[in-house]
Amino acid sequence: MAVKKILTEPNKFLRQISKPVEKVTKDEQKLMDDMLETMYAANGIGLAAIQIGIPKRIIVMDLSKEEAKKPIYFVNPVIKNKDPLKASYEEGCLSVPNQFANIDRPSRCEVEYLDYDGKKQRLKANGLLATCIQHEMDHLNGVLFIDYLSKLKRSIIIKKLSKLKPNSAIL
Ligand code: NI
Repeated sequence: MAVKKILTEPNKFLRQISKPVEKVTKDEQKLMDDMLETMYAANGIGLAAIQIGIPKRIIVMDLSKEEAKKPIYFVNPVIKNKDPLKASYEEGCLSVPNQFANIDRPSRCEVEYLDYDGKKQRLKANGLLATCIQHEMDHLNGVLFIDYLSKLKRSIIIKKLSKLKPNSAIL
């Protein structure tokens, strides 16, 4: 396993649409291992492959607060149902360092995906898990949480981030 560099906004890579995985092979599993290690090293709770520059539809997540790790791996995730009821969470993102904003999203969702072993899974999520899944799925479509903000707020954030040293890694 290896800790990779996390890309930060503004970066064109983060805006591209990731491609579905044909088959979960050793390569994808190694990628998921690296993503998880990178995410833990950055104290994140979710990471999409594109955030380390790999345009594949893969997400890793771990919302456990205890020391025992409980990683969840999502390959080719598809949201099947979204609750019309919205919930608001203060969101941040490893690709938008040190910026936070309250974002409204459907409070529950159901997601279909392949797991680490390539097995089909279905998960009903609510609370932080539902928010996190939707945030990470947005990454697969080139969308960041700041895109839900007003143009003005977004441009202020992007200006701040542009002043950071290029290639500075949040690790
Ligand atoms: Ni993010």
